Amino acid sequence: MKSKVMVFFLASIGIAAFAWAQGGSAEKGKALADSKKCALCHKAPEPGKPVLGKPIEMLAGGKTDAFLKEAITNPKKAIDPKVKMPEFKLTDAELQDVIAYLKSVAKH
Ligand code: HEC
Repeated sequence: MKSKVMVFFLASIGIAAFAWAQGGSAEKGKALADSKKCALCHKAPEPGKPVLGKPIEMLAGGKTDAFLKEAITNPKKAIDPKVKMPEFKLTDAELQDVIAYLKSVAKH
């Protein structure tokens, strides 16, 4: 009896983790990235202008979700204490969406 409860419990965790990994909407993430102005810094370099961050397409390739989440919410810790990127206070759901968007445009 106990083991059945355990199996059910573990299955629920698995499903929740799967839903988390699958949950992001690239479309919502793009709207959010636009409204947060990520592209002000993350864009293709323009001649004569200082390069702030790498283009959006270069952000997510080969990165884990955990790193991306940390990089967005706490860039000074995840990237560099001197990085010129503001901290973005996003909810978990919003982060999933932004990460889904970054991955959808990522070039490896
Ligand atoms: C004021 C400029 C600025 C804005 C706005 C900004 N960033 Fe950044 N971001 C940077 C800089 C500078 C870096 C470090 C250099 C790099 O990796 O591009 C960085 C790094 C990152 C990284 C880590 C990349 C890596 O390979 O280590 C991610 C992910 C990222 N930014 C996502 C975002 C997202 C998503 C937004 C919008 C919600 C955003 N950034 C808005 C400046 C900015």
